[in-house]
Amino acid sequence: MRLTLSVIKADIGSVGGHTKPSTRMMAAVEGEVAKAICNGLLIDGFVCHTGDDIAIIMTHTRGEGSSEIHQFAWKAFLAATSVAKTSGLYGAGQDLLADAPSGNIRGAGPGVAELSFDHSLSSPRPAESFMVFAADKCGPGAYNLPLYLAFADPMYCAGLMLPPMIRGFRFHVIDMDHTAGDSVIELDAPADNYHIAALLRDNERFGIDRIVSQTHGEVAAAVSAQRLHAIAGKYTGKDDPVAIIRNQGIFPAPEEIVSPFAKAHFVGGDARGSHVMPLMPVPINTPVTGMYCLPIVSCVGFSIDKEGRFSESYTDFFDNPAWDEVRRRAQSKAIEMRSQGWSGAAMLPYSELEYGGFRDTVSALLKRFRLREERKPEAAA
Ligand code: 13P
Ligand code: 13P
Ligand code: MG
Ligand code: MG
Ligand code: MG
Ligand code: MG
Repeated sequence: MRLTLSVIKADIGSVGGHTKPSTRMMAAVEGEVAKAICNGLLIDGFVCHTGDDIAIIMTHTRGEGSSEIHQFAWKAFLAATSVAKTSGLYGAGQDLLADAPSGNIRGAGPGVAELSFDHSLSSPRPAESFMVFAADKCGPGAYNLPLYLAFADPMYCAGLMLPPMIRGFRFHVIDMDHTAGDSVIELDAPADNYHIAALLRDNERFGIDRIVSQTHGEVAAAVSAQRLHAIAGKYTGKDDPVAIIRNQGIFPAPEEIVSPFAKAHFVGGDARGSHVMPLMPVPINTPVTGMYCLPIVSCVGFSIDKEGRFSESYTDFFDNPAWDEVRRRAQSKAIEMRSQGWSGAAMLPYSELEYGGFRDTVSALLKRFRLREERKPEAAA
């Protein structure tokens, strides 16, 4: 069976400020998913949230970009938006940027990551397992560094030295500033590692779109690399990317995929979507309530049975005391960075603030600049 894994997530409203969706919103989406499983649209589905973003994780046989699947997710988000509106929640419907998109909803606001594979539970995948990362308060390239390290650096993934992976992975890197269609370059790790790094260093412009095994041609990872402000033309909250990563066997093991997150690396996001702050790994269904508005990332894992259904239990990768140490370090990096408030590297550069209110404040001031009389160039005097 050709199986597709789709993860579609949106920020459609939250309780007490931009913290988490309400219980009734979650129930609304879960109800829609249950119906879609019942009527055969989906094989299986799971709903969770990271901060105030709700993610729907689905298996089905309708392929990537299926208008039925996308329209289903849109309608499920509309149902939760209507709950959010009735309850007077903050930012109701925030990420549903188009009025009524037809077909595929990529580019309409929600984050979309999808990948497909032949699911026969035979070589090279006698068992199918995967993880879904979901981030909140976070820029679109938040996975650039951790996925590069997991799929291109044996210091993080010793498995790259084993025969099934030693030929490396092909990175599809997308130019997120290009809004008329997807503009993608394919680069092979390890041969092109420096070129890959030269692009991925810019988390705001270039993102990983997918990663493919060079030995088996199987897709290992898919990321929702899209910028909300490129879609909306103005600031509408942070991009908050999701990623699907298949693991084990011909792909890195879970520990090799999550270990780069121990860095709590600095990303764009946080308060007003305008700061540079460490990415804190958290359990699924964690609200954003700490001091500042730290970028957070969750990671949930499933196995898939021969019918394409999820295992009855899931693994919550960051819900482990080992990550307490990383969370403490993330918090102390955050306190250190924010001790300099708005100054320099603590906030994103002006170009990134372009679509937000900070730009309006500065533009108004730029109009008030005057050349000093005694310094006017002679030609102008
Ligand atoms: P297990 O013995 O639990 O399967 O551990 C396998 C392993 O190699 C970890 O990467
Ligand atoms: P959201 O994208 O979660 O709404 O984050 C918005 C923000 O700017 C945080 O201050
Ligand atoms: Mg929000
Ligand atoms: Mg959000
Ligand atoms: Mg957002
Ligand atoms: Mg084992």
